Amino acid sequence: MFQTVDNKTLVFLPYDIETSIEFDRRNLEEFILHTSEEYMDESHKRHLDNCITLHGYYPWTFGWGIRDYVPLAGFDKKFPNIIDYIKDKLCLRRIRKLTFVKQQEEVWPHQDADEDGWAIRMHIWNDTQDRMYFQKVRPEFAEKKDLKNKIITGLEPPWIADPNINPYIGSEIMYDEILFPEKHYANFPLRKGAWGFSNRWAVHGTDKKLPNEQKCIMVIYGDKDIDRLRLLHNRSYEKYKDFSITL
Ligand SMILES: [Fe+2]
Repeated sequence: MFQTVDNKTLVFLPYDIETSIEFDRRNLEEFILHTSEEYMDESHKRHLDNCITLHGYYPWTFGWGIRDYVPLAGFDKKFPNIIDYIKDKLCLRRIRKLTFVKQQEEVWPHQDADEDGWAIRMHIWNDTQDRMYFQKVRPEFAEKKDLKNKIITGLEPPWIADPNINPYIGSEIMYDEILFPEKHYANFPLRKGAWGFSNRWAVHGTDKKLPNEQKCIMVIYGDKDIDRLRLLHNRSYEKYKDFSITL
């Protein structure tokens, strides 16, 4: 959808939107903590187990706001401003899934599960010096989605962790074979803000942060209002071309 710029592939673009949402951060922290275990579903549990098997730890805490279009734990009553903000500023007709991801550790290169390849995220708070980077996927793997998923993402299916099926388990070779080695670091124009990125042509990861740094990312899936999003996208590219990453 938004993938090619001057014959290169756009993999990161900050969005030009107003960033203030009124909500109580302490309430949202509590909400994340409360829903992180209470509302974890089976597929996420598998993801968590796979990551621990593959990498030895799980770098995130997930809070669950909406799943399958249904608000969880009274999210819509507690944080109506966040829902309004997403629909208005981030151009979604309906929100299918909304999570809040607190990142505690270094994150290995991976891809997220955004089905159409273009993902929307927002720092809902962020006092880190960001170290998020992108690495280009070698072209022969960019088209082999299943193979790449098996090896890199750890998302689904659960047999990624089965060494009889995944010969790459526990091996550094997988990254060298699939990715170009250069890391391209994201540079955010604002501490808090939204951005789009590609899950098809690149992987992303985050270097280790300092112990006292805090970051929470809002992860948004839903029915995009493509016409409005395209306008936002084009406007953002004009403004933040120098911050964008094309590979
Ligand atoms: Fe990710």
